[in-house]
Amino acid sequence: MVLATIDAGTGRRGPRQMWPPDLNRPVWNAGIVAAITWERDVAEVYDATSAEMFKPAILDPTIDLLEELAGGGPALEFAVGTGRVALPLSARGVSVTGIELSPHMVAQLHAKPGADEVPVTVGDMTTTRVPGTFTLVYLVWNAIMNVTTQDEQLAVFANAAAHLEPGGSFVVEVGVPQLRRLPPGEIGRIFALDPDHVGIETFDDLVGQVAWSHHWMEGDGRLVRHSAPYRYVWPSELELMARMASFRLRDRWAGWRREPFTSESTGQVAVFEKMA
Ligand SMILES: C[S@@+](CC[C@H](N)C(=O)[O-])C[C@H]1O[C@@H](n2cnc3c(N)ncnc32)[C@H](O)[C@@H]1O
Repeated sequence: MVLATIDAGTGRRGPRQMWPPDLNRPVWNAGIVAAITWERDVAEVYDATSAEMFKPAILDPTIDLLEELAGGGPALEFAVGTGRVALPLSARGVSVTGIELSPHMVAQLHAKPGADEVPVTVGDMTTTRVPGTFTLVYLVWNAIMNVTTQDEQLAVFANAAAHLEPGGSFVVEVGVPQLRRLPPGEIGRIFALDPDHVGIETFDDLVGQVAWSHHWMEGDGRLVRHSAPYRYVWPSELELMARMASFRLRDRWAGWRREPFTSESTGQVAVFEKMA
């Protein structure tokens, strides 16, 4: 299978990535896996195929917590997508700005009510700077994993720090790697098996911590096939990356309702505070 990519560093269209990856390379992802852009077909059905994530049960506590952490100041969303979070947060009166790699996702955002209030820059969250400083930068729904090397993930933290005032918050919502769910000898597992969505995750590179997420989704009467690599990140590694970018871990919960984070948690909402 051939996948279109955009080079995460330059924003230019890069070499097309293949799956399955060439595992004969010592570390096959090094320097060659770029962020995969959400192409037009995926962007057009993103909201329909993510309907679960738009439900008030998920979105309301997300917006409540982000509004509280913004503390009346401006917020910046990295990987803002179609505005699932940014638009309702803006509707609460928070000034929200976005950075997003895929122009197709931004086009979907622009077509929605309230989009005029949310300026978005098309760019890479590892490097793109927007004017001003913020009290809150946030990166939700596993999007830190869309940059597929440790260096790029570190660059995301550094870029968040560059946009924050001292004392400001960087919120990262990301899953805990589910390697324990893998039967011995298997490289993949089914994580979604619904009538309109089949999802398979394969752990392809245990050195570079790169897995691939494969989706077959139905949206607006169409079947969409989407595969993308992501770099999974352990909770302790995330905390260390934050410390390297002058943050301290202020809170870590298992979810947006401040559920306790334990060894059994499958996801985390981490709040990092920028040190002076
Ligand atoms: C799972 S979607 C999340 C979108 C949105 N934050 C939400 O919660 O609905 C991941 C998004 O990350 C974007 N993305 C991937 N790599 C990126 C990068 N390096 N810089 C900025 N955006 C990126 C994709 O284009 C996509 O819109």
